[in-house]
Amino acid sequence: MKKTFYLTSPLYYVNAKPHIGSAYTTIACDTLARFYRYLLKEKDQEVIFLTGVDEHGGKIEEAAKKKQISPQEHCDQVSQEFKYLWEKLEIKYDFFSRTSTKNHAKVVRAFFLLLQQKNDIYQDSYQGLYCLACEDFKQKRELIDQKNCPIHKIPVQEYSEENYFFKLSRYTSEILELVEKSDFVQPAYRKQEVLSWIKEGLKDFPISRKSVSWGIKVPNDPSQTIYVWFDALLGYLSPIIARLFEQEFGEPLEQIAELKPEELKKLIQKIELLEILPANFHIIGKDILRFHAVYWTGMLLSAGFKLPEKVFGHGFLTKDGEKMGKTLGNILVPEELIEKFGIDAVRFYFLFTINFGQDGDFSEKSFLEISNSFLANKLGNLFSRVIKLVEKHFNSQVPFVKLESKKSVILEETSKLPDLLEAHMKKVELSLALEKIFALIELLNLNLTQSKPWELLKSESLQEKTKALICLRETLESLRVISCLLHPFLPKLSRKMLSVFSLKEPSNWKSLKLFDFMEKNPSVKNPGLIFNRFESSILSKN
Ligand code: MSP
Repeated sequence: MKKTFYLTSPLYYVNAKPHIGSAYTTIACDTLARFYRYLLKEKDQEVIFLTGVDEHGGKIEEAAKKKQISPQEHCDQVSQEFKYLWEKLEIKYDFFSRTSTKNHAKVVRAFFLLLQQKNDIYQDSYQGLYCLACEDFKQKRELIDQKNCPIHKIPVQEYSEENYFFKLSRYTSEILELVEKSDFVQPAYRKQEVLSWIKEGLKDFPISRKSVSWGIKVPNDPSQTIYVWFDALLGYLSPIIARLFEQEFGEPLEQIAELKPEELKKLIQKIELLEILPANFHIIGKDILRFHAVYWTGMLLSAGFKLPEKVFGHGFLTKDGEKMGKTLGNILVPEELIEKFGIDAVRFYFLFTINFGQDGDFSEKSFLEISNSFLANKLGNLFSRVIKLVEKHFNSQVPFVKLESKKSVILEETSKLPDLLEAHMKKVELSLALEKIFALIELLNLNLTQSKPWELLKSESLQEKTKALICLRETLESLRVISCLLHPFLPKLSRKMLSVFSLKEPSNWKSLKLFDFMEKNPSVKNPGLIFNRFESSILSKN
């Protein structure tokens, strides 16, 4: 395995079909992964993007019961729906992690045994309150009306069991130091919240359940199953561990009965040697930050893993200013949105209009305005104006004229763009990156309007004609670079844009910086409308 940049989305619960929140996060992860693939290709590094599903626990057991099918059948069905949606959204993942697989269970059991060997697991009784929707323990003081979960507004359950506990408290100072002294928690404004949880004092937490049967059995104690969060977080590692197991021990993990804790230990060393982190970026929603920044970190420390580089907690989506929910009947169904508006507009809206760290809203009206204004008017019209001029005056073949980047604001701004984007993408500032691309598109539009090449081309003067040609060639060269740079965000649209230049997907980031295309005598192909405007009649009636 090469040196790896490893990015994960959360593993989504399969208690229900994928919703827009899951699509939103996964689009953002896919964009980042596509960006890093270009960026790191020239350094010969591999990028792994893992997404997947979280399939165990009481909530999923209940969902299966309602459908009168087995939990496994239910998980198989819903996992398939996730995969189908990711295909529709052009999500290009490397691993789809499923926690109901046998390989995953082997990794979880070996991990449990390893922590037991470290004396980090002990038995005790637990009495408390539990929210099934969160699959999380609650404190009395957090509850609304003394009985309801503050997030899901449903009654919590009284919980009293003999369980296995993980000694999280033992790692308090290491976790505190990590959060305090690094930019592990992102965006930076979420750091304070995490610090206050740690400073309140980290408590050991139960990692097994007696009353839940749909889960991985605790090693040597079949009366208990492993707590769904302990199990799910390991879903980030089990596919990697399975891959390395085969390389290290020469046979697939599927073919052995159990993974031994000693073997896992060896694989952990190998992971370190290969410089693979449990993740470079864990991209998650802000509601599950505690599990990732605190619980997961403690578990990894105990097992002897290196720690993830960053945990990024993004904001929540609302619809027309309200929280989405079944009771309000305002749930946004991703498939319906794609069906109605197409993948480009959907990806663009979520990536461009919402500052990824913060909460953001969806309304059809603003969706229509944004798509028409940016994709149809600013970008689409620019392409058609230039293509039509080249078709009319040069029979689609742009005559050669030398371009000099030092004399041209357009070429200069274009050459700066890849670095500007790189800086934003590394900080997960997806909307700012897109803003920069569209600022250049504005500049191109403005330049075209001011230079008026259609008038210059009517002139008898060679000088005027050359000016027009320079303007067209510069605009086209800039659009070529823009078409490449848009690829991580809008792969489908980018392909259409690149077809104008008879080019395919860019293979790496570096090539985008070169101005080689205009050294030739290129022909420009007309792909039809780059983006079809939406008519207001498409708006839903309610
Ligand atoms: N299964 C756990 C994650 C385990 S990771 C090892 C889980 N699943 S979830 O399906 O409930 O949530 C998955 C992600 O969707 C979370 O990151 C959550 O923040 C996100 N979202 C849920 N509703 C959302 C919105 N309305 N808006 C944006 N994201 C939202 O938690």
